[in-house]
Amino acid sequence: MEPHVYVPRLLTDAAMREVRKIGLPVVVGGEDPPERAALLRDAAGAAAVVCTLTERIDAEFLDAAGPQLKVVANTAVGYDNIDVAAATERGVRVTNTPGVLDGATADLTMGLILATARRVLDGDRLLRERKPWVWGPRMLLGLDVSAGTTLGIVGYGRIGRAVAKRARAFDMKIVATPSRSAPPDDDVEFLELPELLERSDVVTLHCPLTERTRHLIDAAALRRMKPTAILINTARGGIVDEDALVEALRSGTIAAAGLDVFEDEPRVDPRLLELPNTVLTPHLGSAGVATRERMCRLSVANAAAVLAGEEPPTPVN
Ligand code: GLV
Ligand code: GLV
Repeated sequence: MEPHVYVPRLLTDAAMREVRKIGLPVVVGGEDPPERAALLRDAAGAAAVVCTLTERIDAEFLDAAGPQLKVVANTAVGYDNIDVAAATERGVRVTNTPGVLDGATADLTMGLILATARRVLDGDRLLRERKPWVWGPRMLLGLDVSAGTTLGIVGYGRIGRAVAKRARAFDMKIVATPSRSAPPDDDVEFLELPELLERSDVVTLHCPLTERTRHLIDAAALRRMKPTAILINTARGGIVDEDALVEALRSGTIAAAGLDVFEDEPRVDPRLLELPNTVLTPHLGSAGVATRERMCRLSVANAAAVLAGEEPPTPVN
């Protein structure tokens, strides 16, 4: 049987047309993630897999696919869903989609900062209750964002820098954890995490999820933050110890959180849903029309390049 290209979840229409141009048979899943058994079955015999962050690509998957598999192209910048070492051992290239979603993710980050600080959802809920209300000098006061408020950026890479660019326009002071990859910016003060947590009014996470960053924000880290501080996470849920976060939000250790990602997606801890001081979105960081198009096309281009014996545009291994 001729090897195929396996696309477990429908990409954008334009990207699906690009997949078909590769010239191999194409096996396509639907809108929703396939069940594990279907994933393993449809991967069998594939030369390329163009997947998303909801597919767990581990040794079992790679063995189910078989030795003709050449590339796993993740349609995401984060690739914590992929066991890269297992892929490398088997000679399988892994690619991701860096660079094309920095602006979109930074935009949503600013949205969560503003919505959380200025209590947009509290205001929305108040109106929807259809009770009488009137402007008041003490009503729904929140954190002033553009008052020299300090923004702490954990992970000063491409997305972290895109957030800094936006924060400058809001007159925020910017502190960030030291980064090996990013050139230093004159107006950014680089601090180790404990000091960053102590100094920031808003802490926003932009590091990848790795063994080193899992539960980076735990109970002890949350205790270092100001009681008036806000935590924003548009990176990966596992960077935050969610149990500790719920406790910190309940007890007033920190003031509020804006979360686009969760530890056990798609499950959202019901305790987070019940807290009044959270703003929650369902992993929408890169969910802009043009951004998604660029991600999907880059992902397909990566797979096509490897199948053509070329170096992919954005390799991981
Ligand atoms: C989305 O979460 C991504 O990693 O691109
Ligand atoms: C508020 O609406 C103001 O005019 O200050």
